[in-house]
Amino acid sequence: MTRFESVAEAIGGTPLIRLVKTGLRPRIYVKPEWYNPGGSVKDRAALSMLRRAEADGSLRPGGTVVETTSGNTGIGLALYAAHLGYRSVIFTSSSISKEKRDLLVAHGAELRLVDAFVPKTHPDSLKSVADRFVAETPGAWLANQYDNPGNPAAHYVSTGPEIWADTSGEVTHFVATVGTGGTISGTGRYLKEVSGGSVRVIGADPATSSYSGGDGSQKFIEGAGHFVHPLAEEDVWPESLDLSVIDEYSAVDDAEAIATIRSLARTEGILAGGSAGVALAAALRLAEGLTESDTVVVLLPDSGRAYLSTYYNDDWLLANGFRTEAGSVVGDLASELRTVGRSRTGAAAAAELVEAGLGDQPVAVLYERDRPATAPHHSDIAGWATAARLAEADTAGGAATATKVRLGAGESVAAAAARAASVDPHWQLALVLHEGRVTGLIARARLDRAADAGA
Ligand SMILES: Cc1ncc(COP(=O)(O)O)c(C=O)c1O
Repeated sequence: MTRFESVAEAIGGTPLIRLVKTGLRPRIYVKPEWYNPGGSVKDRAALSMLRRAEADGSLRPGGTVVETTSGNTGIGLALYAAHLGYRSVIFTSSSISKEKRDLLVAHGAELRLVDAFVPKTHPDSLKSVADRFVAETPGAWLANQYDNPGNPAAHYVSTGPEIWADTSGEVTHFVATVGTGGTISGTGRYLKEVSGGSVRVIGADPATSSYSGGDGSQKFIEGAGHFVHPLAEEDVWPESLDLSVIDEYSAVDDAEAIATIRSLARTEGILAGGSAGVALAAALRLAEGLTESDTVVVLLPDSGRAYLSTYYNDDWLLANGFRTEAGSVVGDLASELRTVGRSRTGAAAAAELVEAGLGDQPVAVLYERDRPATAPHHSDIAGWATAARLAEADTAGGAATATKVRLGAGESVAAAAARAASVDPHWQLALVLHEGRVTGLIARARLDRAADAGA
């Protein structure tokens, strides 16, 4: 182990670890980025952006480091802000894992949770709230990892050269997820340049991410991919992303990513996070078509320790439709999902339901953006309505009742009835999830009746 004179020096130099249980022909090495002091790949970008801001005078002694983040960049910024003597204020959504929130606080960051489910341009969005804070706070500097050249540059000078040196130039394929694009753009550009263009760069992407042609809807895997808010007017991609270095994309859904990391932990003994599952699933698929002369390097952004309450938790898997219990389950009773757009005229939507013989069935009311490619994510659903309520409202949105209850299709009927009542004692209708997507609806009367009958 090398000796470091400060924590800032300890960034990078993460190992390559060969996978030995895949049974595939190429050599596959993972690069576990949780060996960085802050526990993720984002330490590299965080320190690089901070150093650049100091160098160009946008961050001065006594200043405040500000960022909007799903977690890891905030943790890196908070850590190095503390180390370098700056205050840090992190704006983030309340949907990030509790472990990540606690980490931010542990590093002394002031955490501002922004709950607003609104597009970027809205005055209550994460971005707008952070921009206002920066404008009103003397000495505040917004890192803005999405458009900050210091983000990809960190990988061009560290991640790329490390992979090249540690494989003695034998790397043939580099696989990474794409969030801000910093990792894949900087690392990919370096590897392409140093190999004379022969290294292939594969963007592993959540199946619904718009980078690889998905519908832009939300997913459970944090960090990777690009989400388009259902009310957003346009899909703006980060400037940190250099599309020219990505040779191909490989789309991986939540279920495959989760299954991949769970298997990695139990076969190889490596506990990785969810976006690592996206990258590794794509790499394993790729490797099936490669030969003994190929060397694949897969970047694993963070560790599974931050996800013990989610991807590695059986109850979480059940509640989100990634696991199925034996016996009678919610999915057997749920009605098939029917949807109506929020801006649809109430009377017209009601008439259509009645005509189709579905006058007594609930429908889910979707936010404006049409997501035709997949079953919706629960965040695409504004609420539910019946034909009777739709008929009385101007628009479907006006008729919608929100629901807090989500049940996994594979949850046993009795356990689901008890859980739903504990989430909301007054619940009437629940969304039913299969593999993280909403595929059905279930009314309380139906579930409780089946539970009482011991079905
Ligand atoms: C867990 C996780 N995976 C993947 C990424 C994507 O990395 P990048 O932003 O460099 O594209 C991030 C970025 O925040 C992350 O936190």
